[in-house]
Amino acid sequence: MSPDPRPSNPQPTPAVLILGGTTEGYALAEALAERADLRVVSSLAGRTDQPRLPPGEHRIGGFGGVPGLIDYLRTQRLDAVIDATHPFASAMGWNAAAACEALGLPLLRLERPAWQPQPGDDWWQVDDWPGAVAALRHSGARRVLLAVGRQELAPFADLDAIHFLIRAVSPPRPLPAFQDARLLLARGPFSLGDERALLRDERIDTLVCKNSGGEATAAKLAAARELGVRVIMRRRPQRPPSPRATDVSAALAWLDNCL
Ligand SMILES: NC(=O)c1ccc[n+]([C@@H]2O[C@H](COP(=O)([O-])OP(=O)(O)OC[C@H]3O[C@@H](n4cnc5c(N)ncnc54)[C@H](OP(=O)(O)O)[C@@H]3O)[C@@H](O)[C@H]2O)c1
Repeated sequence: MSPDPRPSNPQPTPAVLILGGTTEGYALAEALAERADLRVVSSLAGRTDQPRLPPGEHRIGGFGGVPGLIDYLRTQRLDAVIDATHPFASAMGWNAAAACEALGLPLLRLERPAWQPQPGDDWWQVDDWPGAVAALRHSGARRVLLAVGRQELAPFADLDAIHFLIRAVSPPRPLPAFQDARLLLARGPFSLGDERALLRDERIDTLVCKNSGGEATAAKLAAARELGVRVIMRRRPQRPPSPRATDVSAALAWLDNCL
């Protein structure tokens, strides 16, 4: 009888959890899709009704805070975590840092670079929405493009001397009671030509947005620069200190190094 070539006690396949739902999260799952030597699980928050599903395994919905995440990582025998959530989804990042520290697991933050002001820009950078509201009052803004996400409109609804053009991917539920607002449903990417036309046709004097970074929604900043439109830009929230990658290839290198 020939000997069995399989090892008697095979090592389990290393497993990585991607906290995803972002362009970077999908791109990483796609880059890892062909890796037979790795188990890849993507986690989506479950905020979207029919989310795009990444290749590999996936799960949907919150974990139940740090204890729930610790329990999940342990029972699913995960060996590493890559936090690829949106730059403004910081609660998940802090939970991931606490859970990985408790279990001694390696954690990488994969995050697209922030936008930086260019010569000619008129950026007013703020740390939160109350800061943006104060900046709007102080600036004398009259016609504002509000591109802050449909769930973050309420802080602006009391500004009744301003006409708001609210741009969102899907309808706010509910839409706060603005005195003077129009809803524009649109999904990026947006071209420079379209952004220029929108700002000009709507006679926008101020744009309010988050520093999400990335290409898909950056054209509004170039259009604002060209037309002299003021930008009230919310800075990114603080993240826990952890290794960082700004693109998928750096994340792949980190993963190969730590597993
Ligand atoms: N905030 C934004 O501007 C923005 C923009 C575009 C996309 N997103 C995406 O939308 C999701 C939610 O954003 P958020 O600002 O509400 O996040 P958050 O404030 O950081 O997270 C709130 C809670 O949602 C759950 N959660 C978040 N991301 C998750 C994931 N990938 N998998 C499983 N559970 C997740 C966690 O619940 P438990 O505590 O129960 O585990 C977390 O504590 C994120 O995945 C983010 O990437 C956010």
